[in-house]
Amino acid sequence: PATAIIVVAAGSGTRLGADAPKALVGIDEHSVLRHALDQVFQAAPAQVIVVAPAGHEGDAESELRAAAGDRVELGRVVTGGATRQQSVAAGLRALWGDVETVLVHDAARPLTPAAQIDAVAQAVTDDRGVLPALPVVNTLKRVSGSAVVEAVDRSELVAAQTPQGFPRALLEKAYALALDSGAEYTDDAALYAAAGHPVVHIPGSPVAFKITVPADLERARRLLSPERG
Ligand code: CTP
Ligand code: MG
Repeated sequence: PATAIIVVAAGSGTRLGADAPKALVGIDEHSVLRHALDQVFQAAPAQVIVVAPAGHEGDAESELRAAAGDRVELGRVVTGGATRQQSVAAGLRALWGDVETVLVHDAARPLTPAAQIDAVAQAVTDDRGVLPALPVVNTLKRVSGSAVVEAVDRSELVAAQTPQGFPRALLEKAYALALDSGAEYTDDAALYAAAGHPVVHIPGSPVAFKITVPADLERARRLLSPERG
């Protein structure tokens, strides 16, 4: 396929505080990673690179095989790095063949619908990066110490999700630049924009939230439970 999806799953999940890496924690009978991969393999056929925590490559391989079905030859597991940026870089090095579009997806967003993955892939052009995002609903204030300085105009803000999609050649160059400069970026879109390329946003989905703290895991459990409590 001309598209590859790098699923970064190498984080430890410090804020979740479980006794396993976050991607391998169970939501129901299936792990966070398995749920993420189920949606990835329901999207249009793509090469899938799972970036696993060091020492857990075998577990990631099992989850990949279970989710991939007859697309198993499209999948590959590599070992992640100390930061998310290094894990994505490891994923980029593992691409093979003539991939033209690369999506980078957080395993920690396990309920991200396949349709969101497809929409991002379709919106990528020769030079344009794409991220799914939601409007910001909270009332935000800029503060200075204890003083409230001003209200922040919500209409200028969105909350970014994944997958984020990019033309492969420009993303690889942007990662090489970041490596040279030693800069660490908050997400792939920021790294890509720092190399001078445009990024657009498309509508995200409420269910594509990231599992960060225990309450997020509970939310995912509720959404997946038969009673939808
Ligand atoms: N990630 C990764 N390699 C790292 C750090 C993060 O592949 N060295 C991945 C995580 O597995 C996750 C995504 O990047 O899918 C988003 O990161 P985050 O939610 O911060 O996960 P963790 O870093 O694992 O969590 P925490 O920051 O609480 O430790
Ligand atoms: Mg982290």
